Amino acid sequence: WATSSSNHENFLHCMSTNSPSNSRISGNLHTSNTSSYSYFLKSSIQNLRFSNTTTPKPLLITTPIKESEIQTAILCSRKHDLQIRVRSGGHDYEGLSYLSDEPFIIIDLVNLRSISVDLEDETAWVQAGATLGEIYYTIAEKSKIHGFPAGICPSVGVGGHFSGGGFGTMLRKYGLAADNIVDAYLIDVNGRILNRELMGEDLFWAIRGGGGASFGIIISWKIKLVHVPPTVTVFSVHKTLEHGATKLVHRWQYIADKLNEDLFIRIIIEDVGGEKTIQATFNSLFLGSTNKLISQMNKSFPELGLQAKDCTEMSWIESVLYFAGYPNGSSLDVLLDRTHQDKSFFKAKSDFVKEPISEIELEGVWKRFLEEEIVFMIMDPYGGRMSEISESEIPFPHREGNLYNIQYLVKWIDGEIRASKKHVHWIRRLYRYMSPYVSKSPRAAYLNYRDLDLGRNNKVGNTSYSQARVWGRKYFKINFKRLVQVKSNVDPENFFRNEQSIPPFPALR
Ligand code: FDA
Repeated sequence: WATSSSNHENFLHCMSTNSPSNSRISGNLHTSNTSSYSYFLKSSIQNLRFSNTTTPKPLLITTPIKESEIQTAILCSRKHDLQIRVRSGGHDYEGLSYLSDEPFIIIDLVNLRSISVDLEDETAWVQAGATLGEIYYTIAEKSKIHGFPAGICPSVGVGGHFSGGGFGTMLRKYGLAADNIVDAYLIDVNGRILNRELMGEDLFWAIRGGGGASFGIIISWKIKLVHVPPTVTVFSVHKTLEHGATKLVHRWQYIADKLNEDLFIRIIIEDVGGEKTIQATFNSLFLGSTNKLISQMNKSFPELGLQAKDCTEMSWIESVLYFAGYPNGSSLDVLLDRTHQDKSFFKAKSDFVKEPISEIELEGVWKRFLEEEIVFMIMDPYGGRMSEISESEIPFPHREGNLYNIQYLVKWIDGEIRASKKHVHWIRRLYRYMSPYVSKSPRAAYLNYRDLDLGRNNKVGNTSYSQARVWGRKYFKINFKRLVQVKSNVDPENFFRNEQSIPPFPALR
């Protein structure tokens, strides 16, 4: 302990003497004896499972305002054998941006979140600490006919979201957020600042879907804006089992991925208010007018019985608020609020579905839902642009042949260990129940819905390629090998590592 505590002192000394802006004075270094430490530690933790007294705490949190402070943190951490956790929005489902079993520091990018939009070029540079809400807000301030195809929750950070893929209501029209990135700046293990040209196409490929944390620290992204019409239409139609929800969900599986790519209809299944009433909400964005939407729905999904009175026309940015759950007429300023309003204890898992699931099998899910209180199954349709992009274009491989993605989510309020175990056990049982009905060999999963049940790196010592391939193939399929190759080239000593990071190939001796 004496050695490690003096090592920590040496690390802190390294940080304060090498920080070019003298960060200690400018307040960007937070140790456990500064009053800001606890504030910054908790500020963006989204999953309360990882915010208790037994959760490992960092030696230091740094909130850099300059890139040079990140370079210093990398160099001092390497020298003094500390791990780095990089945090953008803190939404990682397993807390990997602020937790580690090894002694570690957090680089929290909350102060690096400027966004500059270039309408002529139809691009924007976005710093990695920005949230989706901040991007949507800034684009909408400049233009009514531009948007960006990324996730639904405004407090999600772009550091993790873009580097893991990122999808929302426009994925059928424009693909993932990561499909629309054209350049990036990253700081590598040697502290070098590299843009696309300097990092090369392999590394630029890897950080768009392969998870940034294995490869370096992304400091900004250049995104390609997309076109949105001045008026879009939204609807949410709720159906309980008594109103034929099972038949409608079943039917939806045959059409949702084949609809015109301007039309996105997802389904959210829940036990409403924990009252043992299963409800399916058909929740939709259409990039066009109500009239056009109704005529398409009459042709493709008449069973839902959609009428004009169920639909609301609005601007694209208002639809962002709508999907985020804000009431009609809310100020756009809510998009700038970095704190996710609905923090809870939760565990999630994901699947991809290639063949429609039968009504009887769906009923088996509803039955299991009645055993829990706060549970959701979110079904996001694929097809459209997602099927046009090849599996290896970026590391995210779940393209043609996938009807939809499922996210299973269980939340709870009592964080006591036994209670938490019960909910985690429940979702694992549901996942086992689903195995015959979803993708196989591999049973695919979405990196941004991180799930450590799929496997993790060894706590001590190296993790072999074949060990990591078990979960690597689920997230990345054939792209896993190329990710390992890139990792071996850019960080052969595996400095940037976490429980599910990409391991390098062993060094040839
Ligand atoms: P966080 O800061 O926790 O980072 C996640 C991972 O990326 C960590 O490993 C971290 O170290 C690494 N990382 C972060 N910044 C980095 C950087 N600059 N350089 C290198 N590595 C970096 N997904 C989706 O596709 N669509 C959706 O609609 C939603 N909605 C949603 C709602 C809510 C409430 C939650 C909690 C999550 C989602 N997600 C989602 C999942 C989300 O995309 C996923 O959790 C992202 O990784 C979150 O990115 P953050 O930057 O917020 O997380």
